[in-house]
Amino acid sequence: MLLPPFTYRQQNLYVEGCDLEAIARREGTPLYVYSKEAILTRYQAYEAGLATVPHQICYAVKANSNLSILRLLAEAGAGFDIVSGGELFRVLQAGGDPAKVVFSGVGKTRDEVEYALSSGIHSFNCESEAELQLISSIAARHNKTARIALRVNPHVDAATHPYISTGLRDHKFGIDITEVEAVYSRALSLPNLRLEGVSAHIGSQLLNTNPLLEALDALLQLIDRLRALGVPITHLDIGGGLGVPYKEDQIEPPVADHLAAVCARCAGKNLTLMTEPGRSIVGPAGVLVTRVLYRKKTETKEFVIVDAAMNDLIRPTLYQAHHEIVPLRKTFPGTFLADVVGPVCESGDFFAHDREMAQCLPGDFLALATAGAYGFVLASNYNTRPRAAEVLVDGDQWRVVRRRETYEDLIRGE
Ligand code: LLP
Repeated sequence: MLLPPFTYRQQNLYVEGCDLEAIARREGTPLYVYSKEAILTRYQAYEAGLATVPHQICYAVKANSNLSILRLLAEAGAGFDIVSGGELFRVLQAGGDPAKVVFSGVGKTRDEVEYALSSGIHSFNCESEAELQLISSIAARHNKTARIALRVNPHVDAATHPYISTGLRDHKFGIDITEVEAVYSRALSLPNLRLEGVSAHIGSQLLNTNPLLEALDALLQLIDRLRALGVPITHLDIGGGLGVPYKEDQIEPPVADHLAAVCARCAGKNLTLMTEPGRSIVGPAGVLVTRVLYRKKTETKEFVIVDAAMNDLIRPTLYQAHHEIVPLRKTFPGTFLADVVGPVCESGDFFAHDREMAQCLPGDFLALATAGAYGFVLASNYNTRPRAAEVLVDGDQWRVVRRRETYEDLIRGE
């Protein structure tokens, strides 16, 4: 679903002060276009919501890791949630403050732990006892102290798509809430660790925030028990997960209300609150612009074949995700039913099935809405397709923040 600052001026789709079709004609398609205003407004909603408590917002780099976006957020004061050495490298390149970085993920390698420790990150969100032992031994060898939060699996159903739900007993993520106290107790004897936090992330694209609050309640009780055991917990990382509206009938959970409920529960607990939002900061701030190549009718269906494909935006085929598809120019009245598909040689290469589409002709431009999160970052070179360019709009200015890949880029390293 398109949210401001993506708006029609007469018949033309604008983002902030820029006509999207003018950008697309200059830079070609497929093309990701992001709005600086949207990203910063969404980030500021988190800052405002947490203003009354000590806090650090750690933007989840995985949602969109373009250097210019990371730089924008770093300048606004954001920290970062990373899940790989590569993401740490990006954050540092973008001028992010390592002291505001938390490192999540179930499979941190020795090299990644060393890189993070030597960069001076804030803390590790640890997901297993074996990982704690590895971090302890590496920290001891380098004569450093690693700050640790255990990522807890609180057994709360996020009620979202199974691939992006992470807080149930069967999931690979976190340490089972029933085992956490024993793990902290044993970890107290490991050298060069400072056990100071608790973290959780139960899933993504939550439109109902009750499961997040349910998990929070369980974590706060756990923190009381840990403190009673002598583990001096000072920070609580509540993860990310707030959803965004992809369809007209979906309502975005207001960040302000959710954070007010979070802060109320944490009042007087003497905790620094951390959070790791990704999608809710960048999702509605970007679109994927594509061009109609052909219309093709079969006996049973009509296809709109566009120049973007599953390699550019895999969410529809991977998560059955819905992205609105709108014209950049509302030229013709009327609608028709179509499957919107790309050029990749797979039947899974689709953006929509049986979608009611505004009339369009070959050569027309379309935008796939709400593509700022988990769009470009999941792109591949499948079918030896160069990855799309990315543009960042700022008012009536725009610039390319990643150039389109060339054929030469595609074979570099082979
Ligand atoms: N923190 C951790 C530990 C995470 O695993 C994630 C997302 C986040 C924070 C950010 O969650 P968000 O605020 O964006 O919901 N590719 C999928 C989404 C995967 C989410 C993975 N983890 C999609 O396109 O829907």
